[in-house]
Amino acid sequence: MTLNTQILKIREKFLHEYKEVKNSKDIERLKIEYLGKKGLLQSLMLFLKDASTEERPVFGKEINELKNEITIQLENGLISFLSKEEDKKLNNEEIDVTLPGRKNFQGRFHPLTLLMNEVIDIFVSMGFAVETGPDVDSDYYNFEALNFAKDHPARDMQDTFYLNDEMLLRTHTSNVQVRVMEKFKPPIRCIAPGKCFRNENISSRSHVFFHQVEMFYIDEKVTFASLLATMDEFCSKLFKKKIETRFRPSYFPFVEPGMEGDIKCIICSGQGCKVCKHSGWLEVFGAGMIHPEVLKSGGIDPEKYTGFAAGLGIERLAMLMYNIKDIRYFTQNDLKFLQQFDL
Ligand code: DAH
Repeated sequence: MTLNTQILKIREKFLHEYKEVKNSKDIERLKIEYLGKKGLLQSLMLFLKDASTEERPVFGKEINELKNEITIQLENGLISFLSKEEDKKLNNEEIDVTLPGRKNFQGRFHPLTLLMNEVIDIFVSMGFAVETGPDVDSDYYNFEALNFAKDHPARDMQDTFYLNDEMLLRTHTSNVQVRVMEKFKPPIRCIAPGKCFRNENISSRSHVFFHQVEMFYIDEKVTFASLLATMDEFCSKLFKKKIETRFRPSYFPFVEPGMEGDIKCIICSGQGCKVCKHSGWLEVFGAGMIHPEVLKSGGIDPEKYTGFAAGLGIERLAMLMYNIKDIRYFTQNDLKFLQQFDL
């Protein structure tokens, strides 16, 4: 067989086989058969070296042309089969609407954030503005401006994390009081929510890290009676019913008189349990009339103005509201615990 007939035969064979092609796999197979390293066109090249010097360039050219033809045809075929196959696959894919949906993991607010927001909303509805202060503060704003002298024994009540001689992690949100007084003139009606830190033993009732909302009101003729009324109103709004409160005289250097506000333990209804230390009552806030020295620190004339202040422990409140028996749950990040609180 001459080389010429071989070329013709291969072309015919290819055209014939190409007609039978049904899918992209067939094309890939033909590619190997004709264009592969051991393919038919390569075998033609072997014959080329037996051809005469005149024939060689002629046949060489013809083989190359055939190779190009086959390459182009196979490439076009591959593209069109692949796109048909893709269409078919997509058309055959049905959506089974009866399958259960994929559940999205949804984040939610931490119970303390929920409660903090509720407390803020209530005070805002009562006409209080919201201010914030720094977590890392100076001894001055956390203590001295609040009438705690340097060697005041009341400092021992607040086991402070000092960063150096002057700076500390605030032990209460009362540190915002004098900052606000420096910034605004009375009447001032303000709350300051935030984090607090104390170097305490961690137990079911106390933690080194907790939240407070400070509340204070300064104007002419602000009275102790209006403080009681404000806290009563606040508690009823928060618990959405009239709840029993009691006020006990207490001491804080920045208020005079000072007191503690208790709520009858909602967990044991006053019977006595671990959370209320078997007293039947839970201390929820400290409060009092702002000490004249504190007003002076803030540049406010105590002869003209009076004010009241209160500080609420958010963890305590949350334990009451959600019936949580141990304060440590709040910081353990246990999803089973956290997922119980809905928006
Ligand atoms: N700052 C106090 C504390 O953390 C709580 C407190 C007591 C705040 C009495 C007040 C107040 O505003 O009047 O122990």
